[in-house]
Amino acid sequence: MRSVFDPTSRCLAKKYLTPSCLKALEHLKTDTGFNLEMAIASGIKNPDSHIGLYAGDSQSYTVFSRLFDPVIQDYHGISADQVHHDDLSPVDLPNPDPEGRFILSTRVRVARSLGAFNFPCHIRSDERKRLETTIVQSLSRLDNDLCGTYISMEQNDLQDISRLKKDGLIFEKGDRFQAAAGMNRDFPKSRGVFCSNDRKFRVWVNEEDHLRIISVEPSSDLSGVFNRLVRGISRLQDTMEFAENPRYGNLNSCPTNIGTAMRAGVHIRLKGLEIYPDTLNRIADDHDLQIRGTRGEKTAVNDAVFDISNRRRLGLSETDIVTRLFSGIRELITAEKSKLKN
Ligand code: ARG
Repeated sequence: MRSVFDPTSRCLAKKYLTPSCLKALEHLKTDTGFNLEMAIASGIKNPDSHIGLYAGDSQSYTVFSRLFDPVIQDYHGISADQVHHDDLSPVDLPNPDPEGRFILSTRVRVARSLGAFNFPCHIRSDERKRLETTIVQSLSRLDNDLCGTYISMEQNDLQDISRLKKDGLIFEKGDRFQAAAGMNRDFPKSRGVFCSNDRKFRVWVNEEDHLRIISVEPSSDLSGVFNRLVRGISRLQDTMEFAENPRYGNLNSCPTNIGTAMRAGVHIRLKGLEIYPDTLNRIADDHDLQIRGTRGEKTAVNDAVFDISNRRRLGLSETDIVTRLFSGIRELITAEKSKLKN
């Protein structure tokens, strides 16, 4: 293999790609032809990667397990023999911000991929198109409050696209990490967003994963948002077969997005805590929460609005994740109130 990691890189792929691991994996390929060089391409190109590794298909997780396993154990904090258990039953948690003073919106999403198709960094144009057709057919069967329309991003009505962008309904072309992995190929062809009529249930098609199934609303009703997502996943599962393996549950492009592949979070304004980052970070760490910028991953914080969500997606169930998010947010709100008083 020709590529080597930058000496400054501290990504997990570099950490675990020891000389013996490299020797064992460098000549391997999955049945669809995905190899190690492709899997670490983004980490090599981006020395500031945290993970630096993507799967090109569901088989990547087993063929390259000597590298994926330790990366997954390190990121998710699981032991080598831990097995994923899901629990997508509805929850009934109190509202974490009943007066609506801090939380601006609540969003829970899962990533899902179809095992029969290559993952976005390895998929080619015609296969991506077939995949889009399959997904759109399945989405068209949703009913009641989940019923909605599919908006193709290929359509050349630029005015429409810019309006949808302004409303935050469509996704952008992938960042440099995704680009280096090959995920932006042919963008925006065969990409699109399904949006329920009330806009609270959305599905991104062919972004970083085949599907990003999202439940979102401008409120702090965590249980309601989660329970809507649970219904949506279950309906889509009736008509599509998602990639999974017994050990890691749901499989997707990035090793951070496996297991539950769920990110549950809130946009929350913390004007008091913003100037006490140590307190903010300690509470987040205690509850295994990740703090992102206002506009998501690797963005800045504007007007003290933080995007706070679970960090781990594997090693705990979906209901565990929302329950822990709930207690983390409650503690943040208590701390915020006391900082505002001082
Ligand atoms: N590949 C990037 C890195 O290693 C992103 C990892 C997690 N984020 C994601 N959207 N998959 O830092």
